[in-house]
Amino acid sequence: MRQSSLVVVANRLPLDDSAAPDGACEWRRSPGGLASALHAILQQTPATWVGWAGGVGTAPTLPDIGSLRLRPMALSEQELRGYYEGFANSTLWPLYHDAVEQPIFHRGWWETYRDVNRRFAEHAAEVVEPGGVLWVQDYHLQLVPDLLRRLRPDVLIGFFLHVPFPPPELFMQLPRRNELLRGMLGADLVGFQRPQAAHNVAQLAVKLLGARVTANDQITLDGRTVRTGAFPVSIDVAEMQALAARPDVRDRAQQLRADLGRPRRVLLSVDRLDYTKGIEHRLTAYSELLHDGRVKVRDTVMVQVTVPSRERVENYRVLRDRIEGEVGRINGEYGRVGEPAIHYLNQPFDRAELAALYQTADVMVVTPLRDGMNLVAKEYVAARADASGALVLSEFTGCAAELPDAFLVNPHDVDGLKETLLRAMEADPADLERRMAAMRAHLSSHDIVTWARAYLTSLDRTGRVAARLRR
Ligand code: F6P
Repeated sequence: MRQSSLVVVANRLPLDDSAAPDGACEWRRSPGGLASALHAILQQTPATWVGWAGGVGTAPTLPDIGSLRLRPMALSEQELRGYYEGFANSTLWPLYHDAVEQPIFHRGWWETYRDVNRRFAEHAAEVVEPGGVLWVQDYHLQLVPDLLRRLRPDVLIGFFLHVPFPPPELFMQLPRRNELLRGMLGADLVGFQRPQAAHNVAQLAVKLLGARVTANDQITLDGRTVRTGAFPVSIDVAEMQALAARPDVRDRAQQLRADLGRPRRVLLSVDRLDYTKGIEHRLTAYSELLHDGRVKVRDTVMVQVTVPSRERVENYRVLRDRIEGEVGRINGEYGRVGEPAIHYLNQPFDRAELAALYQTADVMVVTPLRDGMNLVAKEYVAARADASGALVLSEFTGCAAELPDAFLVNPHDVDGLKETLLRAMEADPADLERRMAAMRAHLSSHDIVTWARAYLTSLDRTGRVAARLRR
């Protein structure tokens, strides 16, 4: 088996198999921020990416992407249910997002999660060169760092958590909390989106594992030091800027505005259809603004894009029904013939079409109840070349700390959300320009390559691995 000096291990590969209308297999870019972020930096880097390509049964054969080798892992139907839909997305996902939905603890899922983590670790251990770097991603694979340390003590192991790490009192609810914590602490460097996550892990390491910690959250466990740190992930800023500058995308943005009836203001939200995204709170706020007569349908249009996600998981199916019921109710009460109050689109979106939508939107509304980072907010900022447009942003996203010039809001406070939406809609163009220019300046020096370089340099302390990344 060919080996690489840099191996990324993530639940998903950057390509996802989806059935074309004629039933043939078609490959498309995987949903979600993690795959997009890593794909952007690795496609021209000599590396191997170990992950799942969607679907069940035998692993497909996938072509390399430039110098990036893809190594697909197969998942059986039982593994998909227990590992991905079960322990990862019905236990850890809700728990790590403030338990905004009730986490489900199921012993069978845990066993499958542990077995699948072991298989990922074994596969990754085979494809890394002696002395190489293994970079493990996210909550699906939290046991992998410790398993890898046993299999390959000669390599450097990194772990990055893309989602929030919960406060200790929530993590303590997990029946297998010690194993999960020890699993991640098998890494040499554990990276998070926000510094608070590292404090939480350090506190838990002391309490549950008897570790020693320093004031800056470095953890000594079993005679070994595990470094921790915050590395806020970002987007491929240049890609979004280039898309937004394309003449066909600009024409499309004009066309979209015309199709929406040339309203005075367009509000836009783009989310994976997920209960953490605060879609229902947002719809309530918007519906009340219509009810109160503070927003008029002819004058203002809202576009809500939801990208289908985890559709076999009960909570996600129920949420979709609730959202669609609510959109139907709002349109039924406030829409007119040919003038819906909300344009609702539940489908995957092409990158160019997204860039056009971002240009059409006067107000981008990003109001998750909890989000590790939220890359949609950053994409909107990158797409606004003329520095116009307003970003309404939840305080509970990782990017709120980086984008203080957004209109920050607590999405649980419906009255506050209504007022903030109105403030953003009515803001003085000069104020909007100042805010947007500040956010764009931040983003221009904090893109996805900066993130990966910062993390990898901190991991190997030499910058040797980071130097191989795309410029
Ligand atoms: O951001 C968390 C995450 O699980 C990522 O790993 C992924 O990019 C995204 O959500 C999409 O989720 P899924 O892989 O379950 O479709």
